[in-house]
Order: sequence, then structure tokens, then C-alpha cells
Amino acid sequence: MRYGEDNVLATSRRSTPAHSDSGPFARLDVTDAGALAQIVEQQRIEVIYHLAAILSAVGEDNPQLAWAVNMNGLYNVLEVSRRFQVAQVFWPSSIAVFGPGAPRERTPQETIMRPTTVYGVTKVAGELLCDYYVRRYALDVRGVRYPGVISSGAPPGGGTTDYAVEMFYAAVESRPYTCFVREDTVLPMMYMPDCIKAALDLMSAERSALRHHNSFNVAAMSFSAGELAQAVRAHITDFVCEFRPDHRQAIADTWPRSIDDSAARTQWKWAPQFDLHAMTADMLEKLRAGKHVD
Ligand code: SER
Repeated sequence: MRYGEDNVLATSRRSTPAHSDSGPFARLDVTDAGALAQIVEQQRIEVIYHLAAILSAVGEDNPQLAWAVNMNGLYNVLEVSRRFQVAQVFWPSSIAVFGPGAPRERTPQETIMRPTTVYGVTKVAGELLCDYYVRRYALDVRGVRYPGVISSGAPPGGGTTDYAVEMFYAAVESRPYTCFVREDTVLPMMYMPDCIKAALDLMSAERSALRHHNSFNVAAMSFSAGELAQAVRAHITDFVCEFRPDHRQAIADTWPRSIDDSAARTQWKWAPQFDLHAMTADMLEKLRAGKHVD
């Protein structure tokens, strides 16, 4: 590990997180500003990766909770970082900042951002709040707009892009899968190793080279749900996938199909390593080896 295991404190709301055995751990709810401040002060935290959020589908079920966690949580992190001179903060934004008014193909870094989900609203507001802390307090806040995240280590967490992960779990368990978006639904996606690479590359970039700080478009691959099923079927020939769109289709239909990430490529040399086929092969290998978290 880059920083040494003992130098990274993992936190979670749950008392038994998946990775608690790999280094220091503290239980923490980011909406509890007092507890957050206590940990940052006592542990002399220098860099914060603030990843806690309510995703798009769960957010639509409970918009009040989405606002409380996504906005108050971010505010607490920014405030504690300002008060205790935290050197750097990473906070992920999302392709969900874009709404029906934005171009859907190669969506530009800077374009109309009028999202229609509460999750998207909190991400746009969060980007602006982070920009404010950069400008007003010179806090070094950085972030990328993640596309759908595909991971063999973390189960899907209530997003609109969850089908892309669920499909793999079904396939390795020899189950048929009912996909909740149409077969021709195209969304941008990224494999977890590239998500981590993006965060670490951005955080170690020269500050003076960055113009956007906390809202970089990053792209790795774009594919339709049908193409993903095909890619899985190339390895597991009898995998059965049917498509029955539910309410999440309407969210997917307002998001980009592909992303223009030239700002990230120019300013901090962003380059992903996994395309659809490399990701599919690696996902299946990892899940079959039983490395995933139940
Ligand atoms: N994967 C997220 C979601 O579907 C997008 O940021 O909500």
C-alpha cells in the first residue's frame, strides 16, 4: 500500500466493515460533525477521502436522507478540514450532475447542469461548495465525476448503474438475470482499479496544473446493457439475461452515454487501463476466485 497500512484510517457507519482487518478502523457517521472533528483532531488526519453518499436510486426513495448525508456530510468534511488545516480532501462527484439538457454524447467538462434526481442536485451543489472552499479558504479539494462503478470487491450500493455489477454476480452463480434497464441503454462505466487510479493520480497531481479541482469528467468505457451481457456470455456461454426496465430507466435516460474527459487527460494525464473486455475478464476471474464481499 502506497502510504503504509498503519497510516490510513478507514471509517464506516457499520461496526464490522468489509476491510476492517487490513489496518486501523474507526466507526463514524459523517453526519455527526462532533465525532468527525474528534477523529480528525485526535488522529491528526492530513488527507480525507470522503466517499460516503446516498446514490441515485436510493436517493429517489428517500430524498431527505440523500440531502442529509450528501450535503451535510460534505459540509461537515469541508468545515472540519478548514478548522484543522487538513492538507487535502478528495470528494467524488458523478455523471449524475448532468440532466436532460446536457449533450448526451461526449458530454463536455463544462455544459448545462440541470439534473432531475436529488442525487444529481446534491452533486452539483457539492461541486459548487467545494469550489467555494478552494476559492475562499484555499482548501485543496479535488474530485472527479465518476461514471457507473464496477467492482468485484464491493457489492452495488443503490445506484442506477447497479445492473452492470449485478449481472456479473448472477452469471458466476449460474443464475439468470433480469436487467432493470433496456438492452440498448448506454452509460459510461469504470472498473474499480481505474476509479482508485483516478483518485490517486488526481490527488498527487501538481496543484498549479489543475483548473477544475473537484469536478473532472473521467471516462473509461461506454457500453449498452446488451453489450455487457454479450461480453459476459463470451465467457459464460449459457448466461441468460432478460431486460425489464423499471423506474431506474427514467434516470438512466437523463444521463450521458459517453464523456469527454480531455480536461483530466490534459491537466493531470488521466488514462484508464480497463476497457469492457479487460474488465469483464478480470471481474469474472476475481468473482470466481471468491474474492468478492458477500
Ligand atoms: N453509480 C451512480 C448511481 O448510479 C452514479 O454516480 O447512482
